[in-house]
Order: sequence, then C-alpha cells, then structure tokens
Amino acid sequence: MSRGKDYIGQYRRLKRIRDGATCQIWEVIRDGDSKRLAAKLLQPEHAKKPEEIALLKHEFEVAQKFKHPNVIEIYEFNTDKDIAYLILELSQYKNLKLLLREGGVEPLLPVIPRIIELAAEGLNYVHGQGWVHRDIKPDNYLVSEEGDVKLIDFAISIRPPKGLAKLFSGRSKIAGTRSYMSPEQIRSEAVDYRSDIYSFGCMLYELVTGKVPYTGVTAEDLLGKHLRAPVPNPHAINSQLTPEFNSLVMRMMAKSRDDRPSSMDEFLKIFRTIRVFKVKLKG
Ligand SMILES: Nc1ncnc2c1ncn2[C@@H]1O[C@H](COP(=O)(O)OP(=O)(O)OP(=O)(O)O)[C@@H](O)[C@H]1O
Ligand SMILES: [Mg+2]
Repeated sequence: MSRGKDYIGQYRRLKRIRDGATCQIWEVIRDGDSKRLAAKLLQPEHAKKPEEIALLKHEFEVAQKFKHPNVIEIYEFNTDKDIAYLILELSQYKNLKLLLREGGVEPLLPVIPRIIELAAEGLNYVHGQGWVHRDIKPDNYLVSEEGDVKLIDFAISIRPPKGLAKLFSGRSKIAGTRSYMSPEQIRSEAVDYRSDIYSFGCMLYELVTGKVPYTGVTAEDLLGKHLRAPVPNPHAINSQLTPEFNSLVMRMMAKSRDDRPSSMDEFLKIFRTIRVFKVKLKG
C-alpha cells in the first residue's frame, strides 16, 4: 500500500538528515510507534540503477544479524514506489569526518582514547561475524561528543576468501575510499581483515593529527603513495603521542599486511595496555 509522498513504505518521513552522493538519510517513524528510525534511500537519479539497488540490498544482507553497541542495526530492506530503501537504527551522532571538519581534533582530545576503543570494538565484532568492511574511514563512524561510536555503511563489505580461493579470487572492482585504501585493495588483490586494519590505521592517523596520511595532486599520485611512500610518523605532527601508540598506528599502516597487527582483537589487546597521549587529558 502506498500512502503519499510523506511516506516511504509504512514509515512517515520526519526530517531529512543527510544527502550523500547516492543516498538520502531520513528520520522516520511508523504510525502508532514511538521509536524513531532512520531510512536510507537512493537519490532519485540513482533509484533505477540495478547496481545501486543491489548495493543497498547487499548492505541489508551483511548487517541484518549484527547486534553490537558500536555497530548500527539494520532492520529492513524494501521497495516503495520503485524506490529501494533500508530501515536502520537512528543515531543522533554526526559522522567523524564532519566532526573533524567542523571542530578539528582539539575538542575531541579528551574522548579520543574512548572513540578509538569503541570504534575498534565495532570493527572487531564485524570481523568476528566474518565480514571485511572494506570502507573503514571517519565518514563511516557516527560519533557523539562524549565519544560514543557506531560503525555504519556495509555496502561493499565482503567475506574474506578462504584457502585456495585466495589464490583464484580474481580481480574485484576497486572498492573503498582513496585516502584510506590498503595497498592490496589498490592492487585489486583478495583482501582479508588486515585490509580494514590498514584503513583503521589511516583513520587513527587522521584522528590524532587532523590530517589524512597521504595527499596527492591526482588520484593516481595518492594511490601511489599508499603503495610506495614511507609510512608517515604521526608524532611528527603531534608530539603528545606516546611512542607505544605512535608505533602501533604506524604498524597498522604497514605496506605488507604481514607486518600489521594480525587482527583487531590483537590491536585491542595492545591498545588497552598503552596510552594515546603522554599527558592525561581531562575528560
Ligand atoms: N542510522 C543513521 N542515523 C543517523 N545518521 C545516519 C545513519 N546512517 C547514515 N547516516 C548519515 O548519513 C551519511 C551517509 O550514510 P552512509 O555512509 O550509510 O551512506 P553512503 O552509502 O556512504 O552514501 P553516499 O554514497 O550517498 O555518501 C553518514 O555519514 C551519516 O552522516
Ligand atoms: Mg558512507
């Protein structure tokens, strides 16, 4: 049943939260319910594209069973008036890229250790469910000013290939975001959890320095730096970082995945024993 343009399926649109390249995010509510939800639907110019619809459907298939405090819940994939949409848990938080762009690193400093731990726990959970996220970046973490965290956007997540499949996995389309993309992802090789660990390392670099690890005048230039440039040292920008944290971030960004922490679990075990900053910052 269609109910007019204020509705998407059985959900009434309350507020448009964000417009992305391909999607719109709305705050919605089901009549008679008190709980507000989020709807992710395709922008009208993308609504008819089978590949975009497939991505949304895939996102639902990946995340429908996820249940973790640091991972957004996805409840439904559906279509109304030829528009495919997802219904998700609503978050009032902004994405971390936006937070960094608006206020810089400074206001986040006291909660940075908490953000890192919770962001890692969310990703560790997703890995534990057998998925490589493949698009780990600040835009895909929703973060509150108190440092609470939700991981989102499973559109390009995949299951890592096992055993022999690794050798024959073939070249998949390059997917991910250039500033955070692992060397193996750039080379279109089969990726495993350690590709996310690389991207997570790039995100940590940005979180503590306010800058992305590599920039380039062209896309090719930028990708070439992920492949070949020396791993940048966050301490050169932020001298408040402890040597332990600094080297952990640099290890995550190692060109060869064998040189990175082997899992997010290993990362968390180390992270919980060290400090991010030399001076304890007031929370
Ligand atoms: N459940 C949610 N609650 C609140 N805000 C959300 C929610 N999901 C997404 N957003 C907001 O919308 C943005 C885009 O969401 P998402 O990353 O899922 O889409 P996308 O596939 O990257 O879309 P696009 O390609 O259009 O940017 C997020 O960065 C966040 O700001
Ligand atoms: Mg996104």
